[in-house]
Amino acid sequence: MNIRPITFRKSADDILIGGCSLTDLAKEYGTPLYVLDAATIQQNCQIFTKILTEHYPNFSIAYASKAGLNIGIANLIAFEGIGADVVSGGELYTVLKSQIDPKKIYFHGNNKSIEELELAIANHIRLVVDNAYEVALIETIATRLNKKAKMMFRIKPGIEAHTHEYIKTGHIDSKFGFEFNDILPLIKKIHGSEWGEFIGIHAHIGSQIFDMNPYYDLVSILVGFMDTIYSEFGIDIPELNCGGGFGIKYTENDQAPDITDIILGMATELKLLCDGKKRPRPKLVFEPGRSIIANAGVTIYTAGTSKPISDGQQYLFIDGGMADNPRPMMYQSEYTFDVVSPSTTDQARYTIAGKFCESGDILAKNIVLPIVKPSEHIVVYGTGAYNYSMASNYNRFCKPAMILVNNNVASLLIKRETYEDIIRYDAL
Ligand SMILES: Cc1ncc(COP(=O)(O)O)c(C=O)c1O
Repeated sequence: MNIRPITFRKSADDILIGGCSLTDLAKEYGTPLYVLDAATIQQNCQIFTKILTEHYPNFSIAYASKAGLNIGIANLIAFEGIGADVVSGGELYTVLKSQIDPKKIYFHGNNKSIEELELAIANHIRLVVDNAYEVALIETIATRLNKKAKMMFRIKPGIEAHTHEYIKTGHIDSKFGFEFNDILPLIKKIHGSEWGEFIGIHAHIGSQIFDMNPYYDLVSILVGFMDTIYSEFGIDIPELNCGGGFGIKYTENDQAPDITDIILGMATELKLLCDGKKRPRPKLVFEPGRSIIANAGVTIYTAGTSKPISDGQQYLFIDGGMADNPRPMMYQSEYTFDVVSPSTTDQARYTIAGKFCESGDILAKNIVLPIVKPSEHIVVYGTGAYNYSMASNYNRFCKPAMILVNNNVASLLIKRETYEDIIRYDAL
């Protein structure tokens, strides 16, 4: 997977994405500006759907909407046959208003509220259950609404993975999900009940994972759990949800795996294990977020001045920062930068600093770029995932607009906030 959108084109004095000039977009819509490339999102969706259609047709892809969600994005992925994983009433409400098939929506969360559960159960949404208290709430609500709630259990599989490292451990200190044995009495309670249907198990082992092995271990661990469920209750689980977390390339140093290889490897392993045991193959569900949308997005900023620092480097100030992209501060995430229309080929070493009132508001340290003059545009690649969705109004910053580019046409996906928006909910 590329760092940049698949439609990226660069000339001496501009960068085009989806056939649209970043210079023109900045002029027309202002900066900071999120730009999302439809073709890249479509291609990323098709990486999953194509390989699974060929090798494991009983599948469902639920885009992890926390990565980035609005009605336009939801409709785009719905068109690719993809559903959504949601973790809040707000995300659920958004996807219910979109063209996403409600049968392909999975509702996560470790502390779902009664209102959230009511919305989900009333709309027959699949619930990814986190704890026993939630089961009790679901029983009450489903009985009251006279519905049968579809439930799968989130399990801690004993694998913890982070980018290059993973560990297998009997006990995981995660706030999400159950220890496997704790779901057995709950399956017994639900099985055959009027108000609930047990539809499977779920596990998610982490995010931005570069190693394929934890995924293969995950499949064999989950198949072991399926065996136990079968021997305890005679139930072949209809759905096996293996979560998301597939690593992608943000910089040239990232050695991200080929997602086709991981998905094919997991599907093949699941087929072999089920066939070997002569058990039916469950529906295989994945929840990719970043790998669907991260490299489809770029952010355009306008440069302000640069300011020398004592070690010979200099700060380059931009008109956004931690409020539109908190990931470098939160996770020390790294990105790839470019100057959209450089006025020189001479280079300088910069620390890219935002405009917010925090010393840690730094998007990159020590990077080399063509010398940037005030009012030139900087573009940051790979900002499609967890940027807008984690953006804030810190310092009463107006969240930027988001533009969808597709075949030379730019459309507004989200409007830029205004100062009026900033005071809109000030009630006194
Ligand atoms: C349960 C679950 N599924 C899927 C994802 C998506 O992960 P990613 O965006 O890394 O693919 C996450 C991310 O935190 C998650 O918690």
